[in-house]
Amino acid sequence: MRTVAVLSALAAASAVHANPTQTSQQKPRAVSLEPITATGNAFFAGDKRFFVRGVAYQPGGSAADLDPLADPEVCLPDIEKFKDLGLNVVRVYSTDNSKDHKECMDALAEAGIYVALDANNPKYSINRAKPARSYNADYLQSVFATIDEFIKYPNTMAFFSGNEVIHDLANTTLAAPFVKATTRDMRSYIKARGYRKALVGYSAADVSTNRIQTAHYFNCGTEDERSDFFAFNDYSWCDTDYITAGWDKKVEAFTGYGLPIFLSEYGCTTNGRTFGEIEALMSGDMTPVYSGGLMYEYTNETNGFGILRIEGDNKAGEIDLKQTGERVELPEFASLSSAMVAYPAPTGDAGYTKTTNSVACPTQDDHWAVEGTLLPAMPSDAKKYLTEGAGKGPGLKGVGSQDSGTDEVVEAQPGSGEVDAPASSSSSTATSSSAANGRTAMGPVDKAPFVISGIVVFFTLVGAIAL
Ligand SMILES: *[C@@H]1O[C@H](CO)[C@@H](O)[C@H](O)[C@H]1NC(C)=O
Ligand SMILES: *[C@@H]1O[C@H](CO)[C@@H](O)[C@H](O)[C@H]1NC(C)=O
Repeated sequence: MRTVAVLSALAAASAVHANPTQTSQQKPRAVSLEPITATGNAFFAGDKRFFVRGVAYQPGGSAADLDPLADPEVCLPDIEKFKDLGLNVVRVYSTDNSKDHKECMDALAEAGIYVALDANNPKYSINRAKPARSYNADYLQSVFATIDEFIKYPNTMAFFSGNEVIHDLANTTLAAPFVKATTRDMRSYIKARGYRKALVGYSAADVSTNRIQTAHYFNCGTEDERSDFFAFNDYSWCDTDYITAGWDKKVEAFTGYGLPIFLSEYGCTTNGRTFGEIEALMSGDMTPVYSGGLMYEYTNETNGFGILRIEGDNKAGEIDLKQTGERVELPEFASLSSAMVAYPAPTGDAGYTKTTNSVACPTQDDHWAVEGTLLPAMPSDAKKYLTEGAGKGPGLKGVGSQDSGTDEVVEAQPGSGEVDAPASSSSSTATSSSAANGRTAMGPVDKAPFVISGIVVFFTLVGAIAL
């Protein structure tokens, strides 16, 4: 995308361009941000390389499952804080696709802030314990409705097609084909609906045993099946530096990967939180291969990773995230703000690789259980959404989609598009266990309890150093 050079030159600092016809008498018209595109292994806003300098934003935490972008009384006071922090991206894990988001999205755009959005939510997501069953038309309808709602805002930076669905045990990698199929379907939907080419990719858990296999899996195979970027969570910067944290080894491992990568969560808490991660991410050591990252997280929730407290949040179930819930900055807020000032995004192209490439698919081993490269076909009863649109989204309530499908899998024939998966069962009665699905696993994996087949598993923090 090199066609908007004049506009971007006018708006050099932030890529924001205001409507030039606006006068002081009028209510300011919404400014528009240039959509983020991917070229080679980098992101661009117009012709300017774009680095993610953001935070995770989910006030109330994953348990509350509230959409902060549907209510201006919630988002507006936070957007003021985002401006103070100098952010350009926030990641939101749960949004309600039955609601309107114009006010919050426009206010974010005016502040020069993009949104990296999870297209799933706890009830409508791939469940790693029953991936085939949870990949169905009801699920895709919700995902597509989220795309419909957010793609119209130019400051929707990217959609995550899954969050931490794959974990450290090899059997969780069996969910990977369904997440990759979701990625493929989202990209097909965006194309079929004639939307702008919004970016779609997966956000991987901080898991050393299969990080590279997962990355390779999402960038192997045919163009229609591959992602637009890869993101992963990384909490390894603890009492440490670039070399001790092993980030040099990761840069090496991701050199030549062929797509943009960024950290979808970072922010170890045992290191005084001076956010040396930002210094590294913005340095010449990393910018040829990485495109920034998202600090986890903005509000302080029960796992204690936040940099700001909203009074009333999470107190005995009484959640008051609105303007009345006073925003109290914790000490880390100032630390993050200082680090953002001290370590600005590099100017220029910062040594990115100009061409995109795919990589070889991972082979089966002790840590990667997926056999072959065939993906499940898009469920036949979901195909109508490509031509008719998804219609109204189901929102965050209801029975969800995790039991709407069947355990039968029909593999897609590469390139043919001829073979359909079985139709979703119409009798969907089971309630979903949101704790068992991948995407609710917000935050570091050592803090996230999962219920899988009735057994509570606390994932241990793995691989601070090794890949
Ligand atoms: C994976 O294996 C573990 C341990 O054997 C088991 O507890 C868990 O339910 C399995 N998970 C899946 C997704 O099959
Ligand atoms: C952040 O939340 C955690 C967990 O509720 C709590 O223990 C901690 O005191 C909070 N931090 C601050 C500074 O309020």
